[in-house]
Parts: sequence; C-alpha cells; structure tokens
Amino acid sequence: MRRPLPWPLPALLVWASAWALFWLLPRGLPAVLAATAWGAGWSLVGATRMRRLLLALGFPLSLLASGAAALPPWGWLPPLALCLLVYPVHAWRDAPLFPTPLQALDGLPARLALPAGAAVLDAGCGLGDGLRALRRAYPHARLHGIEWSWPLRLACALRCPWARVRRGDIWQSDWSGYALVYLFQRPESMQRAWRKAAAEMPAGAWLASLEFEVPGVLPDDRLQTPDGRPLWLYRVSGKPLK
Ligand SMILES: C[S@@+](CC[C@H](N)C(=O)[O-])C[C@H]1O[C@@H](n2cnc3c(N)ncnc32)[C@H](O)[C@@H]1O
Repeated sequence: MRRPLPWPLPALLVWASAWALFWLLPRGLPAVLAATAWGAGWSLVGATRMRRLLLALGFPLSLLASGAAALPPWGWLPPLALCLLVYPVHAWRDAPLFPTPLQALDGLPARLALPAGAAVLDAGCGLGDGLRALRRAYPHARLHGIEWSWPLRLACALRCPWARVRRGDIWQSDWSGYALVYLFQRPESMQRAWRKAAAEMPAGAWLASLEFEVPGVLPDDRLQTPDGRPLWLYRVSGKPLK
C-alpha cells in the first residue's frame, strides 16, 4: 500500500504548485481561478477536514494576504464558490471525502454472495473508489453511485464509466431496488441509514458500512479489511422482495 506523504509536505507541494500555476498564467481572474481550482482539487487527498480546508484555502488566502492580485472585492467570490462546489457544506455535514481502499471489499463476496446482475449502490460515492472496490468484489453486479458534489460526481463518472453515477442526495434517493447499499459515511449518519434501509429495502437485502457501525443494532457479520478496519454487515428483514 502506498504511504501518504507526511504532513505538511502535501500542503507545501499543493500551495507551491498553485502559486507556480498562478505565475505561469497571464495575470487576472482566470489565473486566480485556475490556481484555486488546482488547490481545491488536490484538497480531496487531505486526510482530515482541517487538512483539506488548509489545502484548498492556502492559495486564495495567501494571495489575498500578499496583494499579488489586484482583484475587485467581488473577484474573491468565484474562488470561494469554486471551493464550495468541490465540497458543498451539505456534504461536509454528512461525510467528508475519504476514499475506500481498492482491496477493502475483497473479502465481502465470501460472506455475502450476490446473484449476477444484482443492483448495488455506493451511497455517497465521492471519486468512485468505493465503486471500484465493489467492482473488484462483484464484477457482475449492476453498480450505481449517488454523490452530492457535482464535480466529484463528474470525476466519479469518468473514473467509473461502467457504473451509473448520478448527482443527488442519498437521503432523498430510493433504496428499494438494491440488493446491497454500501456506505462509508460518518458515525452520526448510521442510525438514519439503518432506518432508511429497513423502511425501503427488501427483506434479504444488505447494508454494508465501512468503519462505522449502527449504534444499538446487532450486525449480522463483521469483516476486517486488509488495512484493519471493520466492515459491518446488516441484513434487512421484514418487507417482502418486490
Ligand atoms: C467518506 S466519502 C466516501 C466516498 C466513496 N463512497 C468511497 O468509499 O470511496 C463520503 C462521500 O459522501 C458524499 N456525501 C455526503 N453526504 C451526502 C449526501 N447527503 N448525498 C450524497 N452524497 C453525500 C460526500 O460528498 C463524500 O464524497
């Protein structure tokens, strides 16, 4: 497994490269936007929320402090909007972007067999790493992804052309057609996710959650991923299969 660069090296590299891009381009708002987009894009690799914020905001804030770009006051709105587009506040509240490692779900089919053509959803699919791990595990499944941030949704669709990826809210989407819903969200989201799964998914369908368990609900199984994280499995019972 590749080891991440020690902090703050990623920040220094991202900020320096954003500044390099800014100096290389003709001066003006397009240069500011391009360098901000560069930082905002790379911010997705940050391991914590604070680091992602630092990565994304490092260039525009240092530019503001340096006075190197004589922008009108409104000129700061587009770079700010760019940062928000990559990571809308809504998605911050539910779960920041942490990708599922590629091999994380390799052990899943041995515990949870799915028929060929079964529909599987990665709810909050980010850049598509969960979908890629699901594809390794279930190459014959029909894979779907929903993502709130539209730049992430676009990037995911490009990285996973074999999946149906759409922009939307996982809480507003219908889970009734899925044999498996995979989540990598936040501890606070798990009770809500389980209530939704139990209300909408057919009996015999599964909810799988990387790292975070549903409080107060006994899992049907628990796997350990290659990097030592738990994968919690919950079988939905109750509603008859459609
Ligand atoms: C921890 S990341 C997991 C990404 C991907 N599932 C993976 O495992 O590689 C969580 C993702 O959920 C998205 N997200 C959070 N809340 C959401 C919501 N209500 N609707 C859609 N996507 C959401 C975030 O934007 C983020 O990309």
